[in-house]
Amino acid sequence: MHILDGKVVSQAVKDDLKQKVAFLKEKGKRAPHLAAVLVGHNGASETYIASKIKNCEEIGFASSIIRLEEDIAEFELIKTIKKLNEEDTIDGILVQLPLPKQINEQRIIHLIDPTKDVDGLHPINTGKLVQGLPTFIPATPYGIMLMLEHYNIQTSGKHAIVIGRSNIVGRPISILLNQSHPFGNCTVTVCHSKSINLKEICLQGDIVIAAVGIPGYVKADMIKENAVVIDVGITRVKDDSKKSGFSIVGDVIFETVAPKCSFITPVPGGVGLMTIAALLKNTYNAYTNRNEIL
Ligand code: GUN
Repeated sequence: MHILDGKVVSQAVKDDLKQKVAFLKEKGKRAPHLAAVLVGHNGASETYIASKIKNCEEIGFASSIIRLEEDIAEFELIKTIKKLNEEDTIDGILVQLPLPKQINEQRIIHLIDPTKDVDGLHPINTGKLVQGLPTFIPATPYGIMLMLEHYNIQTSGKHAIVIGRSNIVGRPISILLNQSHPFGNCTVTVCHSKSINLKEICLQGDIVIAAVGIPGYVKADMIKENAVVIDVGITRVKDDSKKSGFSIVGDVIFETVAPKCSFITPVPGGVGLMTIAALLKNTYNAYTNRNEIL
């Protein structure tokens, strides 16, 4: 069993970007700029945003956080997005999800300029992804693909089981694994909350992507010998032994599943770190699409 180490792969991606930014600065150019919009005080969202901004700083990107109150009216958020769309020196816009109930999430996502949509959630970018055209791939699926590529995991002709059909992970990763690409060409089955015989379906998986958000959902008796298991879950559970008061757990019971696998991602230290690295790559690409770099 081999660990797919998100720390190693994300560092390689960040080192490469850091060099590219240094090159830009040497040429007297500005650095790529990511603007993150955070509405309210959701603990997990605060942590994610802090981590995204810290990573921007590490590699020399410019970054801004736009903090808005939990009870903000939708039109105020719309005004904020429009302003960011128009700001020439902002390359990437990220609106951290989930948003409070009074705000229509889709309306907000649809307002983001698709050329700055580094989360890859705008329908124009989703459409491009479906057609196999260059676009911003949502950060978590993009991070998974970068990881498969780094470890040269052979996917062609394999049966991939994706558990979860969200716009942010399940659906885009199912499209990427299925597309004609050196790390695609899988036969893909997408399972969801209404799927029956989930265990039997998962047992057919050469590759299993668990993107459910339920701790311990994937058990050893669902995984065949030598499968590749990618755990996308990052759920906070109360843990009084931790200074923070919680620990992060995945969708997969690592202790019993890992011995059966050829490759597996740990939680933490797996896909979560790759999500951030992929977001940075998307931001760099947004910058180069919008600017002459030489
Ligand atoms: N909330 C959880 N994951 C994500 C993500 O990848 N992007 C955004 N914008 N919000 C999230």
